[in-house]
Amino acid sequence: MKRIAHLSDIHILDPRTPRSSARYRFAAKLVSLGRAVDPRIRARKLARALGAAKAAGADHIVISGDLTELGDESEFEHFAEVLDRARVDEEHVTLVPGNHDAYTSPEGWKKALEGPLRRFAKTSATEPGKIVERGPVALLPIDTSCFQSVVRAGGQFTPDAARAVERRLVDPALRDKAIVLVLHHSPFVQHRTPVMQFLDGLRGWNKVMDLLVRHPRLQVLHGHLHRMVDKVLTVAGGRAGEARVFGAAAVCDDADAGPDGGGEAPRIRLYDVRESGPLVRLATVSS
Ligand SMILES: [Fe+2]
Repeated sequence: MKRIAHLSDIHILDPRTPRSSARYRFAAKLVSLGRAVDPRIRARKLARALGAAKAAGADHIVISGDLTELGDESEFEHFAEVLDRARVDEEHVTLVPGNHDAYTSPEGWKKALEGPLRRFAKTSATEPGKIVERGPVALLPIDTSCFQSVVRAGGQFTPDAARAVERRLVDPALRDKAIVLVLHHSPFVQHRTPVMQFLDGLRGWNKVMDLLVRHPRLQVLHGHLHRMVDKVLTVAGGRAGEARVFGAAAVCDDADAGPDGGGEAPRIRLYDVRESGPLVRLATVSS
């Protein structure tokens, strides 16, 4: 694998919204935070982002959570339909759920992987420690979502997940590979107050940090913040200017190009896989 495309925060809606329940419409509007609640526009943005990833020659596409607005079954179906129409090869796509994907049911993600997204189940987040090996890169998709009220947006990186990732990091069979954790929430503290961090942050963030500090090979792709982030870690093993934590902008916040396309290009992230001394690194591709 030479190039990864990173998309995030799609927030797909139920295409039957005008006919769907008042409860769904109310909740979708509430969590859409002022964005137009138009299923066609959201789907169009995803289709354009997938098209841009393919056109850029990406060998693998990572979508780091908030695939849907509420984790409703029909939203997952709609999301799968857009991927199907884009003709993306399931072996070359890795999906993880975000907080929005768990607002409807604690089983929503599991059922989606057994149902409309089953063709992506092999390469997407299931049990912690699962790896998706693609040449010099081993992707570790992690589910940080929790079933909770729509007033909370936090996630959790569990002690189990930390142990499972650690086992992969010390596995001699993966010694020469870049280990890339894919999760929805940022592993950095995002808020000044503990209350806001509780509502919107990642519980167990310090476990991810601990792994990053001790394992210079580890890199992270995340979403949730709806903006691009490059974080350089100034710790032993870190090198000046070399980011190891990458956040992607939200596809749902892209400009709508209308039914005929055109306009501003989708803001997908692209990383090239590069040898950097003894390490394999993801290097951002400037557009
Ligand atoms: Fe989001």
